[in-house]
Amino acid sequence: MIYETHTHFDDKAFDDDRDEAIRRTFDAGIGKIVNIGSSIKSSKTSLMLAREYPDIYAAIGVHPEETKDLTEDDMAVLEEYAKDDNVVAIGEIGLDYYWDEPERKIQKKWFIRQIDLAKKAGLPIVIHSRDAAEDTLNIVKDTQAETVGGIVHCFSYGTQVAKQYLDLGFYIGVGGVVTFKNAKKLKEVVEYVPLDRIVTETDSPYLAPVPMRGGRNSSEYLPYIVEAIATIKGVTAEEVESVTYENAVRIFGK
Ligand code: NI
Repeated sequence: MIYETHTHFDDKAFDDDRDEAIRRTFDAGIGKIVNIGSSIKSSKTSLMLAREYPDIYAAIGVHPEETKDLTEDDMAVLEEYAKDDNVVAIGEIGLDYYWDEPERKIQKKWFIRQIDLAKKAGLPIVIHSRDAAEDTLNIVKDTQAETVGGIVHCFSYGTQVAKQYLDLGFYIGVGGVVTFKNAKKLKEVVEYVPLDRIVTETDSPYLAPVPMRGGRNSSEYLPYIVEAIATIKGVTAEEVESVTYENAVRIFGK
């Protein structure tokens, strides 16, 4: 069975067929799903999905691009949600300098604040980091985020940065990009990172793997990602499935 560590079934892209898409995902051999929050609103809908489906869990948190108007009241809401047994992580949180909005100072402030929240709740974090390798690592180290650990999702940096996260005990999230022909850097990272430190994800509805590239992504396409990792690692798909599944269980405790 495959563990889906990062998806957004709450997204409006699934408004017409959410239950169907979730059912097809379980039918495709995916055993467990973590639905990831990216705003206060989607943190709530993630939690509602997790309450509805026994094998769906929720991560709650605010994506860097959504931090502009955050308040301490919002943090209090997240703190309350975090007490629910269905919540397994704080995320996705981090820094995004590709879109570079809102200003970096604000992104950093709320990244740090949400790491705090994770430590208080005793939950791992799911990190979103794009074009912000150095600042993300500095914050992770300064806040001693390794005490809760977690995943660097949709990993987009090279092996040097991967090594630093591995040294801190973090796991590397690998998604649809690994199936792209031109994804040389990520393929090198997958070759470099031991299988027992990799987790599988789709980030659906974004980043559909080949042969679905360009269309709406869904967690049911995870087998393509597993296959690509297996090819790079020179092991069977079954081995990738079982090792990465155990990794996710170790992180989320479910
Ligand atoms: Ni995401």
